[in-house]
Amino acid sequence: MAKVSVILPAAGAGTRFGAGRSKIFQPLCGRAVFLHALELFARRDDVVQMLLVVSSRDADELNGRFGDELRRLGAETVEGGTDRSGSVRNALSRIHDEAELICVHDAVRPCVGTEQIDAVFAAAERTGSAILACPVRATLKHSPDNVHVGQTVPRDGLWEAQTPQVFRGDILSAAYQTGLSATDDAELVQQLGHDVELVEGDARNIKITTPADLAIAECILGK
Ligand code: CTP
Ligand code: MG
Repeated sequence: MAKVSVILPAAGAGTRFGAGRSKIFQPLCGRAVFLHALELFARRDDVVQMLLVVSSRDADELNGRFGDELRRLGAETVEGGTDRSGSVRNALSRIHDEAELICVHDAVRPCVGTEQIDAVFAAAERTGSAILACPVRATLKHSPDNVHVGQTVPRDGLWEAQTPQVFRGDILSAAYQTGLSATDDAELVQQLGHDVELVEGDARNIKITTPADLAIAECILGK
């Protein structure tokens, strides 16, 4: 069983959610969204460290309302960057030496199942780089002007990337040292020339982006 450090980026502004404050604090089944994500990892024997990356805007609220809970869960906090990559980069400098794998998981994906975490951890231990993803099911339309329907994009071979994304520590650190930018960690690792394995996840592993997602997550967690 490889030892894992978990980075939970939570330093975004939540602009699309539109609450005027970070969506990580939104209540979901009675607990803040980010606590659900932390708890998924806190109870695992293979997790040796959890780094919650937070914006300086949210630090007072976090420490004031959730300081005791963070200590109980064993989570450390790290200051966020101007974009998600900057937030992950800040956390990388704090990874414990004993960690063999680094798992990056959005703090706003509270519904990922334990079996899925097990599967992506095992794949990363075997290959060095693995992510959860789901085959695209929708019919995809390109629009040249954002008004009219253009071409239908064939969905064969298209997968929607999720998190957790899990890498051998040396691979992820090297990917972040290139100074290149990317929309997720897997893309940075690929730019370094490493293959990244797809582990088929579950459509219930949604990212809370808008209030509608919060309502869906309530249904998923409420069973
Ligand atoms: N994130 C981060 N640091 C940033 C930007 C984003 O840690 N500078 C985190 C978010 O807190 C979130 C995850 O990355 O947990 C995925 O980002 P997203 O869903 O885009 O969240 P926000 O950036 O907060 O939302 P929006 O883009 O609507 O402002
Ligand atoms: Mg964002």
